[in-house]
Amino acid sequence: MTEHFPGEPKSAHMLTRVPGPATEALRARHNRFQDARSVHYYQDARKSLGNYAVDVDGNTLLDVYGHIACVPIGYNHPALLEAFRSERFAWLAAWRPALGVAPPPEWVDLVEGPLMGCAPQGHDRVMTVTTGAEAVENALKAAFAWKARRLRGGASWTAEDLQLVMQNRQPGVNALKVISFEGGLHGRTLGALSATRSKAIHKLDFPAFDWPVVPFPANRFPLDAHAAENLEAEARSLEAVERALREGGGTVAALIVEPIQGEGGDRHASPAFFRALRRLLTDYEAAFIVDEVQTGLGATGTFWAHEQWGLDTPPDVVTWSKKFQLGGLHLRSEFAPQEAFRLFNTFLGDPLRAAQAEVILEVVARDGLIAHTRATGELLVAALSGLCDRMPQLFSGARGAGTFAAVDVRDAPTRDRILDAARQLGLEAGGSGDRSIRFRPALIFGARHVNEALDRIEAAARSLS
Ligand SMILES: Cc1ncc(COP(=O)(O)O)c(C=O)c1O
Repeated sequence: MTEHFPGEPKSAHMLTRVPGPATEALRARHNRFQDARSVHYYQDARKSLGNYAVDVDGNTLLDVYGHIACVPIGYNHPALLEAFRSERFAWLAAWRPALGVAPPPEWVDLVEGPLMGCAPQGHDRVMTVTTGAEAVENALKAAFAWKARRLRGGASWTAEDLQLVMQNRQPGVNALKVISFEGGLHGRTLGALSATRSKAIHKLDFPAFDWPVVPFPANRFPLDAHAAENLEAEARSLEAVERALREGGGTVAALIVEPIQGEGGDRHASPAFFRALRRLLTDYEAAFIVDEVQTGLGATGTFWAHEQWGLDTPPDVVTWSKKFQLGGLHLRSEFAPQEAFRLFNTFLGDPLRAAQAEVILEVVARDGLIAHTRATGELLVAALSGLCDRMPQLFSGARGAGTFAAVDVRDAPTRDRILDAARQLGLEAGGSGDRSIRFRPALIFGARHVNEALDRIEAAARSLS
């Protein structure tokens, strides 16, 4: 298998424990003004290379966590470094416009080029923002505007609407709902948070919309050993979705779903499940929003994870961020609001980050990194299955699409101990859900990195007993 990042370190190399003394000294300073308790280590980002992160204590770690799935082509990729040395990037970095008011002409090139070039099939509009949560907020707003217009039979607002909306009492509209799934994460802004169901701590004390939540199938692995129970779980979930749509009596504007629940524990459903969802949403006239913030840009072995579902009609709105380095949404044109200023803010994204995304997309295409990720993913899931076979008392449920992969550990405390022990051995990995270890490496992750990561997880697990 081709190495896609020549010159990167041969393997992880540890000098201290992680977090080491230099990290702890920085954390002490940092904690005075910000909450730095979540920091794993302070990264010496200039020294990090390819799949390997270097921390301020000089430790070199193989990174399969990737800043929560945000590293597309590895640290300090030569193509990005070269682009950032160019006059074009220096200028873009020095000037951040209000893109809805006075964009530079280059912005139109970026919209026509990389941003529409990667649009999901059937999508002909794009909006850019900064983060995943903002992408979701705007997807929800697009769905509400679409649904409200339909409920009015395409008519414009009445004088009463214009008056009551200023008191947050728009007739009919406050009853509109979005269905989301148990275990889903769609962001932490107030609207998106009402659709987020992964952890109580994200939601406690924040007022929320009273929207329906339905079970996610969370198929068990290996799939062939659990076929019947997975089918039942999917049927139960689809029944719950249909019930919520029916009981909503026309008030459900949208359903939002991740192709694979990322934060919620790498929970999967089958292509047939998503096709059935698509049909239900069409039947009940609710928008189908697919949240590809964590899955988008190749990690699952196709550019968009939803390409693997074989849908007859594409999703209505697709949200994205993370590996793109900016946030955004693609829409089918009927879901784009008809009036100006409906999906709007000051910056509307950032041309610098869009230009960075363009370079990333060029490298991904030039180096065939999606096919590479598909092949690496097969090795990775096979290696995780091997681990489950060798240590069945500890590991189970190896699963993945591309390198978006995970394995379950016996219980949460053991998972956390394995993650910590693996970090001491030079593997930066993360958890998802209650007891899964997740892989979110860059698209340059290859066969030798799979071997190294698995060796370290196994050694970490053996060191516990
Ligand atoms: C599927 C999904 N949607 C939305 C978000 C929120 O993105 P952000 O943290 O950039 O707001 C995340 C973040 O992890 C995510 O995984």
